Amino acid sequence: MTGRAIRLKNRPVGLPSDDDWELTTDEVAEPGEGEVLVEVNYVSLDPAMRGWISEAASYRKPVEIGGVMDAIAVGRVAASNDAAFAEGDHVMGMFGVREYAIANAKGLQKIDPGIAPLPKWLGVLGMPGMTAYFGLVEIGKPQPGQTVVVSGAAGAVGSLVGQIAKLQGARAVGIAGGPEKCRYITEELGFDVAIDYKNEDVAPALRAAYPDRIDVYFDNVGGEILDAALAQLAFRARVVICGAISQYNSTEGMRGPKNYMSLLVQNATMTGFLVFHYGSRYAEAAQQMGEWVASGRLKAREDVEPGIERFPEVFRKLFEGTNDGKLVLAVREPA
Ligand SMILES: NC(=O)c1ccc[n+]([C@@H]2O[C@H](COP(=O)([O-])OP(=O)(O)OC[C@H]3O[C@@H](n4cnc5c(N)ncnc54)[C@H](OP(=O)(O)O)[C@@H]3O)[C@@H](O)[C@H]2O)c1
Repeated sequence: MTGRAIRLKNRPVGLPSDDDWELTTDEVAEPGEGEVLVEVNYVSLDPAMRGWISEAASYRKPVEIGGVMDAIAVGRVAASNDAAFAEGDHVMGMFGVREYAIANAKGLQKIDPGIAPLPKWLGVLGMPGMTAYFGLVEIGKPQPGQTVVVSGAAGAVGSLVGQIAKLQGARAVGIAGGPEKCRYITEELGFDVAIDYKNEDVAPALRAAYPDRIDVYFDNVGGEILDAALAQLAFRARVVICGAISQYNSTEGMRGPKNYMSLLVQNATMTGFLVFHYGSRYAEAAQQMGEWVASGRLKAREDVEPGIERFPEVFRKLFEGTNDGKLVLAVREPA
């Protein structure tokens, strides 16, 4: 049996191009002792994957040139050599961008498509959902009546952060690109205010929205927007550094914050985090997120694009801002 896979051809400079990837067809092996063969259905496309193909120091080893691109994915067990999994089980794991994966059973999580369709397990019930939950609740710690500002507000993580802020009794301000994303977060998700950074000057818009300043700033984008938020911090504000997507393709090095003295003046904190460090508590967050989703109080949308061969162009959607919600690549729709 053979299966297709996306491999890294070159280390990209700036925005990854079509030429940085190669589509190959490979032999699929039999699962060894303690392994399963997974038929991959949906692959999660995440901004962090840009870091995984860079040689810059990071929290993980970069994908090797010629190696299959890493990615979180969901699929169906096609054959099992481990007592904990049976053919037909649905599982999530680090399967990579490929049609078939041999995976160690220890790294797999069983998922139930009866609770939610498979792509949702890569979004609100998966890694982005856990990121929004722990980043906001554990680090941002919004109090009722406080103001939470989030950038990347219409995306997988940001759209959940604003809604969880509202569920905690806080006010939610979202910064997103374009009128449609701004309409979506206010009219459909219930954010109090949206700032369109592509058509508005963010610093004065933030001042106008809440002159009493920002208690929690959840940053997904870095760069100038981070500086605009830093300039508006309230006393004892919490800045949560979740990501810096505006900097991931920079060819001139990362732009750091200029307005960081605001942390001193306002006795504020700025804290970075990696969601994987909350791994032992995912069940707790998934339970809460699942309840909110089931009761209709937490909404999430997925942007599912078909075709493993389209990976290079679909991946770029994250950096072009053309994804509407959690970006997912459909490799093989379930039968
Ligand atoms: N710390 C962690 O453990 C962790 C875990 C997951 C994700 N993250 C981070 O969370 C952030 C959001 O990830 P996601 O999966 O939710 O992605 P996403 O928001 O669903 O998609 C990326 C969005 O980023 C925005 N964007 C792209 N280039 C930008 C730029 N130059 N300036 C401002 N905005 C830009 C675009 O929206 P617009 O149209 O609004 O520009 C785009 O739709 C990323 O920084 C990611 O690395 C961190």
